[in-house]
Amino acid sequence: MPNVKTLIDLIGNTPIVQVKNMDTGPCNLFLKLEGNNPGSSIKDRVALQIIETAEREGKLKEGSTIIEASAGNTAMGLALIAKLKGYKAKVVILDKMNKNKILHLKAIGAEIIMARSDVGPDHPEHYIAIAKKLADEMPNSFFASQFTNMSNPLAHELTTAPEIYNQLDGDVDAIVCGVGSGGTISGIGKYFNEHSPKTVIIAADPKGSIIKDTVEGNEIKPIEGSGWLVEGIGEDFIPDTLNLEYVTKAYEIDDKEAFKTIRDVAYNEGILGGSSCGTLIASALRYCREQVVKKNVVTFVCDNGEKYLDTAYNDNWLKEKNIL
Ligand SMILES: Cc1ncc(COP(=O)(O)O)c(C=O)c1O
Repeated sequence: MPNVKTLIDLIGNTPIVQVKNMDTGPCNLFLKLEGNNPGSSIKDRVALQIIETAEREGKLKEGSTIIEASAGNTAMGLALIAKLKGYKAKVVILDKMNKNKILHLKAIGAEIIMARSDVGPDHPEHYIAIAKKLADEMPNSFFASQFTNMSNPLAHELTTAPEIYNQLDGDVDAIVCGVGSGGTISGIGKYFNEHSPKTVIIAADPKGSIIKDTVEGNEIKPIEGSGWLVEGIGEDFIPDTLNLEYVTKAYEIDDKEAFKTIRDVAYNEGILGGSSCGTLIASALRYCREQVVKKNVVTFVCDNGEKYLDTAYNDNWLKEKNIL
């Protein structure tokens, strides 16, 4: 038999590497390289779980259009799987997102609708509201709805979490996750609570987002303007798919520290991560340096950095944004 796979077979089972050239205090810091997924992000896992569950439940039929609101990566996973399975994809993307993501989505045939980044969740032009309305009005459409669809955390409980547990032979002291829809942190929290209660689950939050204050039980302040520049994480509401029950700690990282960190990671480790991994790795490094005994700490490079070369890795762009 020839050894031929489809792109769907390549989703998940991503490698973990150890940080070698940065100050991790007494700890071992491991990075799970989710950019190795075929749609180049962690969201391929979610897209696959959502689509295959919808197929089993009869919600996707021949010629169906999959609709989603996304910062880009979920859209990419959905569009890729839709292509392989013969569905269409229509995605509502925030206008602050990287243009290369949009070009990539267009290249694989997704229909794109741009939405404002500067309106809150109650506004009719909020990207989720636009996607929901489209799905309500369009016949033979399916709203993937990563913010309410429980296939999202389930994907991480069934795949991401056991992979981490097995890759570290069950010895995981802490996992640092970003929070967008909350799928990753909730699925991982549930799995580790059951299989390794010693594992501390930590949120990495962009400055301006409400997740850290929610974890700490503080008063929630309204978001100013478009918020933060890192893509895919940070929230202005608590999605149905976010369960903070197992999250005991959170760090707040501003854009300047996040972008400096991804550039340090590229320079020191040779890993070109997406903008959010600056927030995650900066949080993980803070946690590692606060420890007094050796711990195994895991975080993610959630997507591949090539699409951010003209922004996060470009001095002129950082100067323009006042964060060099
Ligand atoms: C680019 C990107 N998207 C999404 C997420 C997390 O997403 P969610 O909370 O939706 O699982 C991350 C997490 O770090 C991320 O880096």
